[in-house]
Amino acid sequence: MKLRLENIGHAFLGRTVIEGMNLAFAAGEIVALVGPSGCGKTTLMQIAAGLVVPLRGRVHRAYRRHAIVFQEPRLLPWLTARDNIAYGLACAGTPRRHRREIAAARAREVGLEADDLGKFPAELSGGMRQRAAVARALAVAPDVVFLDEPFSAVDVGLRRMMQDHLAQAAAREGFCALFVTHDLGEAARIADRLVVLSARRRGIVDLRAVPGRPGARDERFVFDLVAAWSREEAFAELLDGAGRLQ
Ligand SMILES: Nc1ncnc2c1ncn2[C@@H]1O[C@H](COP(=O)(O)OP(=O)(O)O)[C@@H](O)[C@H]1O
Ligand SMILES: [Mg+2]
Repeated sequence: MKLRLENIGHAFLGRTVIEGMNLAFAAGEIVALVGPSGCGKTTLMQIAAGLVVPLRGRVHRAYRRHAIVFQEPRLLPWLTARDNIAYGLACAGTPRRHRREIAAARAREVGLEADDLGKFPAELSGGMRQRAAVARALAVAPDVVFLDEPFSAVDVGLRRMMQDHLAQAAAREGFCALFVTHDLGEAARIADRLVVLSARRRGIVDLRAVPGRPGARDERFVFDLVAAWSREEAFAELLDGAGRLQ
């Protein structure tokens, strides 16, 4: 698996958002991309995923499959939860019986009940829809998963469970995850590595390994880590204005 961003630059309507960005990702690692609102996290993720073509630089992508989880579930309303989760498999020509098995197993992992699988998105709660979106992403056995603030709209208990699930799945299955968040606590909980973006300086202001193991850091550890980061200059933009920590 290879994913590398080389000298990426992008602008919207003549306004530069990203400049000269270089980043490489390794198999099995969870990289949290943090930064204040509007600094270009979504843009960078979409460039890495091939949804946006950058104005400058190159994306080197050498892997079989990737999957994307957006901030909203983006399920197809005319398909049941089961068929939504199995959608990528159906597109790839996986036989019906096999894809139903995979969908059921992925649904179980995120805590969806067998009863929920026959329901349509309109019949599911917001949290259940986002679980289905995560199950759908992992169902295709991706090498890379791109996640854009996937848990920001789910309640705190479910968010914790989904974070742990993602960390465990990445460790077990060896996919690389590029996880966009503006929540330092979330990054401290699940990431192997942290990339801090700045809006003012249009690029990476800090890049570091996160101590401990994703999914195995307890409350206290995460709290202390965020408190320590909060005293550093690199995180200042995240903590002032709209990005203020709760
Ligand atoms: N399609 C677009 N057209 C014009 N400007 C855009 C577009 N998408 C994003 N932007 C601008 O680019 C900047 C970065 O946006 P975005 O990547 O969404 O930031 P983030 O995800 O960090 O909040 C913002 O100033 C935003 O307004
Ligand atoms: Mg965004």
